[in-house]
Amino acid sequence: MSIVPNQLKMNKIEKYQSLLPQIESLISGESDPIANMANVAAVLHDAFGFWWTGFYRIEGQQLVLGPFQGPIACTRIPYGKGVCGTAWQRAETVIVPNVHDFPGHIACSSASNSEIVVPVIRNNQVIAVLDIDSKDFNTFDETDQLYLEQIVKMLQHILSIK
Ligand code: SME
Repeated sequence: MSIVPNQLKMNKIEKYQSLLPQIESLISGESDPIANMANVAAVLHDAFGFWWTGFYRIEGQQLVLGPFQGPIACTRIPYGKGVCGTAWQRAETVIVPNVHDFPGHIACSSASNSEIVVPVIRNNQVIAVLDIDSKDFNTFDETDQLYLEQIVKMLQHILSIK
């Protein structure tokens, strides 16, 4: 009898496909944005074993740390700075296979080696970003982008702009 949990045997696409309805049902009954960001970060972090998984919200000209899973992180990131500020500026997902090669990367943790940042966009405006860090190089690709963009779309209606 196998003692490996089902989720460990799934490939990345299967994992994301099984998570989509779980996330939908988790957030559909809750209108509070902090609660929903917290649970989305927890679900992703737990399913994939990422190093850091969380949200930064836009407050004026800065990103401010939101709900996350993982070690402590920088609390404020200016527009256009780091991977997060770049994803905000470009209003598009940024995949970084090796953070040490990304000019201006903000190293909240020296253990992080690759990263993906997905903007949450509502009414053509970036209102937050989902940031995920991995201890491995080359963790993130178009598959992550595809599914994480779908996941943040589920959140766009319930996050409010200050
Ligand atoms: N590395 C990010 C900063 C946030 S931490 O990774 C949690 C960046 O360069 O924007």
